[in-house]
Amino acid sequence: MSLHGMRIAVIGLGTMGRALAGALLSDGSVAATDLVATVGHAENAERLGRELGLAVGTDNCAAVAKADLVLLCVKPGVLRRVLGELREAGALEHGPLVVSIAAGVRSGELEQLSGGALPVVRAMPNTPCLVGEGMSALCAGGLASSAHLDAAEALLAPLGRVVRLDEEHMDAVTGLSASGPAFVYLIIEALSEGGVMVGLPRKVAVELAAQTVLGAARMVQETGRHPAALKDDVTTPAGCTISALLALEDGKLRSVLARGVQEAARAASEL
Ligand SMILES: NC(=O)c1ccc[n+]([C@@H]2O[C@H](COP(=O)([O-])OP(=O)(O)OC[C@H]3O[C@@H](n4cnc5c(N)ncnc54)[C@H](OP(=O)(O)O)[C@@H]3O)[C@@H](O)[C@H]2O)c1
Repeated sequence: MSLHGMRIAVIGLGTMGRALAGALLSDGSVAATDLVATVGHAENAERLGRELGLAVGTDNCAAVAKADLVLLCVKPGVLRRVLGELREAGALEHGPLVVSIAAGVRSGELEQLSGGALPVVRAMPNTPCLVGEGMSALCAGGLASSAHLDAAEALLAPLGRVVRLDEEHMDAVTGLSASGPAFVYLIIEALSEGGVMVGLPRKVAVELAAQTVLGAARMVQETGRHPAALKDDVTTPAGCTISALLALEDGKLRSVLARGVQEAARAASEL
């Protein structure tokens, strides 16, 4: 499905809204004339409008008035307030598709907040959407059809990979792939520190660490082999890698990372 000719209102242009709107425009999936956006503060509207070459305001009702698709990129608390205001003003009565990227806000609540009759799709993208390497998961609310899911997928597919899942998995997705970039940045930073510790200039250490993470991730994707088998390929008997792996296991790296995902998913379920 193409987004061509579809009018889209992006509510919220922070880290995620800006990444999504910017990528849609630069990839050509949506024309600037078919995209409007809003933010909370007028001074930000003016600056972002200039930077993105887009109509950006602070009037959510005006922005959604003619939209076929409303993409909600505000924090969960703001989302609840904004949807309430749009519903009370009758701004959603023309029946747009509502796509929300807010963590922890269930499709049933989104339907209820938007008046009970609108198709709703929940999406959980991540910040690497900004460089076209995003990971997004989608799930449909009770009133959304497969065509609505197709439209949401068309919105996110140019920004990286997309999977469709049951809603019961959305908090787990939030804990793994939405929070995950932060965990990986920490790992890259830690590997770089290790490089600096053994004498590498910091800039070189960061380059080596980032490319190593990127290369290892692509090995997992492109070979389809289990990460443990790929790890075994790097471990020569009595070599330096196995010696380091045992030190990492002593530090409980594996369970610390897995617990991090579990903790982020738990926090998402309480938003
Ligand atoms: N950050 C992530 O990695 C990530 C990943 C996946 C999903 N999410 C979800 O994405 C959503 C947005 O997160 P974020 O990190 O992008 O937040 P953010 O950077 O804080 O951006 C929030 C945006 O909402 C705007 N806003 C505030 N009040 C508004 C209102 N009444 N009407 C219209 N716009 C309003 C803000 O504008 P002003 O700055 O002008 O007030 C800002 O542009 C959250 O629900 C989060 O759960 C985030």
